[in-house]
Amino acid sequence: KRFAVALKNSRDGESKGKKMNPFAEQEQWEQQQMGKAALNFGSKNKRLKANRYEYVFGDQIEFINTGVVEGEKNYPDLEKFECVKIKEEQKTLPVYGYKDELLNAVRDHQVLVIVGETGCGKTTQIPQYLHEAGYTKVGKIGCTQPRRVAAMSVAARVSKEMGVKLGHEVGYSIRFEDCTSEKTSIKYMTDGMLLREFLGEPDLCSYSVIMLDEAHERTVTTDILFGLVKDVARFRPDLKLLISSATLDAEKFSDYFDSAPIFKIPGRPYEVKIHSTKAPEANYLDAAIVSALQIHVKEPPGDILMFLTGQEEIETVEEILKHRTRGLGTKIDELIICPIYANLPTHLQNKIFEPTPEGARKVVLATNIAETSLTIQGIKYVIDPGFVKIKSYNPRTGVESLLVKPISKASANQRAGRSGRTGPGKCYRLYTAYNYQELEDNTVPEIQRTNLANVVLTLKCLGIQDLLNFDFMDPPPSESLLKALELLYALGALNKHGELTKVGRRMAEFPLDPMLSKMIVASEKYRCSEEIITIAAMLSIGNSIFYRPKDKQVLADNARVRFSEGNVGDHIALLNVYNEWKSYDYGSMWCYENFVQFKSMKRARDIRDQLKGLLERVEIEVTSNLNDLDAIKKAITAGFFPHSAKLQKDGSYRTIKHPQIAYLHPSSSLAQIHPQPRWVVFHELVLTTKEYMRQVIELKPEWLIEIAPHFYKKKDVEDSDTKRMPQGKGLSAFS
Ligand code: CDP
Ligand code: MG
Repeated sequence: KRFAVALKNSRDGESKGKKMNPFAEQEQWEQQQMGKAALNFGSKNKRLKANRYEYVFGDQIEFINTGVVEGEKNYPDLEKFECVKIKEEQKTLPVYGYKDELLNAVRDHQVLVIVGETGCGKTTQIPQYLHEAGYTKVGKIGCTQPRRVAAMSVAARVSKEMGVKLGHEVGYSIRFEDCTSEKTSIKYMTDGMLLREFLGEPDLCSYSVIMLDEAHERTVTTDILFGLVKDVARFRPDLKLLISSATLDAEKFSDYFDSAPIFKIPGRPYEVKIHSTKAPEANYLDAAIVSALQIHVKEPPGDILMFLTGQEEIETVEEILKHRTRGLGTKIDELIICPIYANLPTHLQNKIFEPTPEGARKVVLATNIAETSLTIQGIKYVIDPGFVKIKSYNPRTGVESLLVKPISKASANQRAGRSGRTGPGKCYRLYTAYNYQELEDNTVPEIQRTNLANVVLTLKCLGIQDLLNFDFMDPPPSESLLKALELLYALGALNKHGELTKVGRRMAEFPLDPMLSKMIVASEKYRCSEEIITIAAMLSIGNSIFYRPKDKQVLADNARVRFSEGNVGDHIALLNVYNEWKSYDYGSMWCYENFVQFKSMKRARDIRDQLKGLLERVEIEVTSNLNDLDAIKKAITAGFFPHSAKLQKDGSYRTIKHPQIAYLHPSSSLAQIHPQPRWVVFHELVLTTKEYMRQVIELKPEWLIEIAPHFYKKKDVEDSDTKRMPQGKGLSAFS
């Protein structure tokens, strides 16, 4: 019967618009799985089958084994058992004891700052309490998260706790993925999505409660939301605002919200013993690996959490750990290695939440995502190398880069705290006690180290003209604001009075960076919107399109080279990948044979579909101009002309405006050709060992004058130093 109801709901969902609601596909899959499960377990266990698996993340249909009935064939009370277990778990959370007081405080105050240790139940429990108390009768409860992964996993957890299907009463909304429906009353979302909702609903009238969670993270979007919700709250006395944070310096939030009361949830953290190194570590990765192995061999049971700076580091450590433990064979207990970072495919993300089997130990290799956003059970040991990859922005050049930097004291303490949640813990800092003293107290808020173009465009769309007087908790540097205004003006999104133009309004419809949105809007002129949305979708995936297994690198590289034949450049290569995949019916086999990641491609397809929908919304005709590569490149240039660079004698490039030296990223197809292209446009700069341009195409300098006459003058694009070199045939390193 439940199934029938679900099926009906799925139909309701469908009528709302296919892409918005993944239920139809989910149901189909469920039916298949039920069929399969029936084969496995025999028909006696119908109820059990439904319970053996649970939904996890929205449309990325993944099932995980609940682990409770492993080996059991008859467990008729399973449903009850699971329910009881969850209810018991909920009662053990620190926030549970303060439920009534909390509800009273929410009733009595419009704005409340809530502070409590990570894992005390703020994110998962408070929206449920408010739901039970009736707040969802008059509107939705919206809870923002700075990270996509957190929004998805928390929503999954809460839907499970409430015994409802994800996407129904409890849902989530992240960029390009809306897993909510008409009846969603508890909605987890990224802060970016709430900011976008302001565009359509400036008074947030469909919400009765807004919870800005993880406020201590101080993402630029959360900071902007502070200002916006504070304003809305003034003329909507019925709207409740909760600002929740894991760190104890909540006074700042309270001050900002006109001395809102602070509700402290006392934690029960256990003692954490901190070990620091005697001397600074020359190689923190190696030190981290050695520490993990030592803990595994010498210390009593308990899982390990290691903080690393990004996907690459995590993959390196994963590989080395696997290699070293394999060498030890059965001499040591099993070490289960679980990576977690934002781009990790969803089905692998779930692994970190699965209980560790008896006799084994889990080591979670995580980015900062595990510092406060995600709570992982069973962690007893933390390894903290003391670094984080953090965005930094140079308002002079307008270049944003990700840099590995030392963490703050606040971060170091949060990280250590992750080991003392369920019992006494140990934190191994791979830096000295003196180094710790030298750390900054707090991380600089993102608003002071980021490109603000996107935020400024959104604010302009909301009719906020005077940005310098916006009620910022910490104001951004005025150079950053000016730079953002300058860029938006150059892109044609603002006129010279700083007012939004039609182009700007169209650009704001796309949940993308302004340069990407401009490229899409410009594709109308060059009659190549089909191609440009493909490129935009592929660029949005980041660098997880190609797959390069260590043992098949040459094969993988050869497969990849094929897509950029003719030295068409990286954007066109991405287009070729997509179009060829499409011609093979979007199949997984094609991906496998071409060393392309199927999951990434599926996501690109999904994003592309949504961009196509948005094209219609801004009334840009969907047209293809595949035979005119120059037209496509011009559309790209129309968005990215500020990112153009010219070859120097020494083989480096120099950006044309606000000179900055950069190099072709080794992964760029243009890095393989000789002679190097003289003029290029790049998608982004990344700083590793040096500044690299990633995703690059060649450009004709005269295009810059044609496309951006207000930005480039003739002298900027003159080939003064050397004569234009004849173009070689373009020897690829592999041919
Ligand atoms: O938000 P806060 O850090 O206060 O805690 P929470 O995210 O609400 O987590 C409360 C508890 O729920 C944690 O202690 C975890 O045990 C559990 N939880 C879980 O098991 N799986 C999740 N995906 C999220 C939370
Ligand atoms: Mg939380």
